Amino acid sequence: MKKAIEESFPIVEINRLAVPERNAFKPIYQMHKWFARRASCVFRAILLASMKPAGTNIMEEFYKDHTNDPDTNGVKILDPFMGGGTTVVEALRLGCHVTGIDLNPVAWFIVKTEVEPVDIDRLRDAFKRLEERKTHTGKSVKEELLSHYKTGCPCCGASSDIPLNKGGSRGLSFCNNNKEDADIIYTFWVKSAICTNPNCKREVTLFSNYIIAQKTPTIRYVPDYECTHCKKVFDMDIESASLIAEKMLTVYNPKDAAGVLRSHKRWALWDSMTHRAACPWCSYENVEAEIKSLKKAKKKVPLAVLLCPHCYAVWQYRGTLPEEVSCPACKKDYSPNRGNVPEKGSFVCPSCGTKDKIINSIRKLPQEQLLPTSPYAIEGYCPECAGETFRKNLFHEVTKSRRLTHSCMINKNNGKFFKRINPSDLKRYQDAEKRWEKERDALPYPKSVIPDGQETHRLLEHHYRYWHQMFNPRQLLCLSTLLKAIGEEEDQVMKEMLLSGFLSTLESNNVFCRYTISGGNKSQGIFSRHDFQPKISFTENNPWGSCYGHSTFRNNFEKLTEGKNFCYKPYDRKYSENKIISENRNEIIEANNDSKMFCGNSRNTIEGKFNFVITDPPYAGNVNYSELADFFYVWLRLLLSKTYPHFSPELTPKVEEIVENPTRGKTAKDYEEGLTNVWKKCHEYLEAQGLVVFTFHHAEGGAWESLLESVCNAGFLIESVYPIHGESESSLHLMDKQAISYDLIHVCKKRNRVANTKKRSWAGVRQEIRAKAREEIAMIEAGRYGSEKLLPADINIILIGKCLELYSKHYGAIVDHNGDIVPLQKALVSIRMMVEQLIDTAHPLPSELEHIDPVSYVYFTCLCDRKEIQSDEVHKATRGILEIDGLIKAGVMRKGRAKRGRTYEVKQPDERYKDLQVFFKKDTKNFHQLKLLPEMEEERFDNVALVDIIHYLMGLANASENLMLWLNEFKQAIPQVRVALEYLKKRNPTFQIPIQKIVSLIEV
Ligand SMILES: C[S@@+](CC[C@H](N)C(=O)[O-])C[C@H]1O[C@@H](n2cnc3c(N)ncnc32)[C@H](O)[C@@H]1O
Ligand SMILES: [Zn+2]
Ligand SMILES: [Zn+2]
Ligand SMILES: [Zn+2]
Ligand SMILES: [Zn+2]
Ligand SMILES: [Zn+2]
Repeated sequence: MKKAIEESFPIVEINRLAVPERNAFKPIYQMHKWFARRASCVFRAILLASMKPAGTNIMEEFYKDHTNDPDTNGVKILDPFMGGGTTVVEALRLGCHVTGIDLNPVAWFIVKTEVEPVDIDRLRDAFKRLEERKTHTGKSVKEELLSHYKTGCPCCGASSDIPLNKGGSRGLSFCNNNKEDADIIYTFWVKSAICTNPNCKREVTLFSNYIIAQKTPTIRYVPDYECTHCKKVFDMDIESASLIAEKMLTVYNPKDAAGVLRSHKRWALWDSMTHRAACPWCSYENVEAEIKSLKKAKKKVPLAVLLCPHCYAVWQYRGTLPEEVSCPACKKDYSPNRGNVPEKGSFVCPSCGTKDKIINSIRKLPQEQLLPTSPYAIEGYCPECAGETFRKNLFHEVTKSRRLTHSCMINKNNGKFFKRINPSDLKRYQDAEKRWEKERDALPYPKSVIPDGQETHRLLEHHYRYWHQMFNPRQLLCLSTLLKAIGEEEDQVMKEMLLSGFLSTLESNNVFCRYTISGGNKSQGIFSRHDFQPKISFTENNPWGSCYGHSTFRNNFEKLTEGKNFCYKPYDRKYSENKIISENRNEIIEANNDSKMFCGNSRNTIEGKFNFVITDPPYAGNVNYSELADFFYVWLRLLLSKTYPHFSPELTPKVEEIVENPTRGKTAKDYEEGLTNVWKKCHEYLEAQGLVVFTFHHAEGGAWESLLESVCNAGFLIESVYPIHGESESSLHLMDKQAISYDLIHVCKKRNRVANTKKRSWAGVRQEIRAKAREEIAMIEAGRYGSEKLLPADINIILIGKCLELYSKHYGAIVDHNGDIVPLQKALVSIRMMVEQLIDTAHPLPSELEHIDPVSYVYFTCLCDRKEIQSDEVHKATRGILEIDGLIKAGVMRKGRAKRGRTYEVKQPDERYKDLQVFFKKDTKNFHQLKLLPEMEEERFDNVALVDIIHYLMGLANASENLMLWLNEFKQAIPQVRVALEYLKKRNPTFQIPIQKIVSLIEV
């Protein structure tokens, strides 16, 4: 019996759910970083549609509980490329028996911890045990790790001999701190290049600009408050807008410091302790105790935290940032937007003016030396200045901290502040560095060398030779101390759960993390990109973590707990009156005795019998999983190598990986072969009626063709293809179909071997294909995919899928008029043209022209009615059909002279006449040799483009040459010629006269 997915898929609904999901993965998928994660709703729908019989309403099933569903419980599912575990998790939810395989030990570990049965209370106990475990210093792990990231709060951490400012804060006081109670959230670091001028050799800091952070907080204020003394009005801000704690280090833009939309208004801050505000006109201290009774409004205040390149002060600018600023500490001017890095990858030496590539400076260093780095700023958090806040600890226990005892600039910023690096901060760092040197031998950290590879090559070029060099000494000290303590946990399951939190902490605590202002003033982990991009400036996170900070161990543990909670209380998202709501299910996600996760090569690990294979295979060279995963692996194996044999090698397996990777000599062919091998295994272990369903990215290039080829080669036929896109619908309507990036769901089943041996002509199969596509269009119109309309782009993909079904059904047995096998690539081109035509309602080609050559196809559908065309339009029109170059070589178009080559000129028939004369003189012989078998009639133009015949005839007509002679020559093509001429006449009125001439002769 057919399954639902063989007939239809809820494309519209699932696309709508996939978009928000990709922006916020469900908790279980946030436990870990894995590359190129897929939206889980897609896989839930795939699983249900595969297991449920045809005709089932899948969206209804999607929102049902399947704890006791005979259609899903106990069904055997295989995922040979489980990656981050989407199929595994979703299948377990439905009560399936899952087998998951991945070559990569890190992926295996991630999936294992995701589905490991875990008692949340025990997990919390394990965390507490870890937190309190003593390091050899006698401190607890938590205390120890936090102690390396303490700093003096510029507001309240100063030594007491510095007098209080009015209002209680201590103002400018970055030295002599005797109280360092504030936590460092981030330390900002910059690398320096060494000037490559041999006479200079100075260190040049690699700042691309001097902006540390930017924010526009909203604050409350009293508009037009009247000064009791001078009667002038001003904005009385009753909340401070400041990202720094030192009052004297803020400079105001006279134009708009009052705030957005407050133009030139003057303003003053009301002090909540003294109840005073100094009039900005006459300096009179207005006392305003009855603030409650005054009418208040809200406004936004733009703030920028800047570094001074002259004195290294960290100061604040309030109002719109100008081109030039003057440092309030040293009074020197500079331009905050211009550092020593004029463009990516290069630097300019401010002393001698030499401009060079950064990489050249690195090349001049000894092999084992990295570029020097130095810290230049801190973002900290002071619990005291945070004042009255409710703090949630890991276990959601809320504690209310004491009331603020002084009015503080950073109160409104939750006690967070930016400050300069002072000597005691440096000392604290150096102490950690020394400790690391002393203790490193006794602590676990990776000692492996970074191997050369597609991604890692860059690391080597930048002189990172060991994995541990991707961390600074303080990070190494903390991470290895933490790892050692995790290793002391006796409960293996708990040890692995803690290790899982450690894994995420690695990602965000290394010298490849970058602060992003546009991303919300926070640090991004190394794998916010899928590569190893060395950074010229980086942020050092607080590994254990205080109240703030991104992806600290504390945060990560919290995420882990949420992920595990999700296992026992999963939810699905749903649109309800245009809002997204979550609906809980009773299903649970837990590994069971009938489910197995293997770390191994899918080419030889698969065994058993499966009902369905559901997977997301690797995508050519898009992500080099094993090279990237080594970053995690080298740490993980320190605790796991003795327990699991696949963690004993020094690095993750590379040879067996299915990937395209030139550095490691892995070609597109190897990739295709690898996939074929795995599909063959799947074929072997899949029951006769089983399905293979997988997602795959669809883009330009050969990867998709390789994939289709591999599936067909392994004995499968492709039954359907469904599009999943990442764009929201509103943006889709504006875009053309080709620009959308797609993930395609492929549904495949075993090919019938008997039917497959009989040779079929391509022309005949094409006729079947066209009929099938027309039938599908009718089904779509009748509501096969639900009542909501599909986008034209989606219809296009679905139709291509339906066409592929017939091609793949006869795979290897389809021959052209010469008896040669029609390769997939060629078949795809004509399928694409056919589908385009079937759904192009603007300029439909007459049915007689449905099988013309690609050049004529593009000419008729998109070039014939104009003289010039934009290059992106040509791109669209040719994509998947032929190369743009092909059009130029064919002579129908040339590069435009105007607009810097972004346009093409369409050649007119007269311009082509001379060339065509030469061409046809030479080629007439061929026409006589054309075979004329009835089914082969469509291949008549295989050697010559129809548009050439048409243009030549028009050229002859314009030159009043003997047309009859040539019409005779082309006689086998006359039916197409006539139809083409009628079509062109309508599209381009300037062709009227010559066409009329030709047509009148044909009619005779
Ligand atoms: C596209 S990823 C899967 C992503 C996953 N669906 C997710 O949502 O996270 C493909 C996986 O194939 C794995 N892989 C590559 N070659 C393999 C092989 N020979 N055997 C098993 N797995 C392999 C890679 O390690 C990678 O994790
Ligand atoms: Zn403070
Ligand atoms: Zn006044
Ligand atoms: Zn300065
Ligand atoms: Zn220089
Ligand atoms: Zn304070």
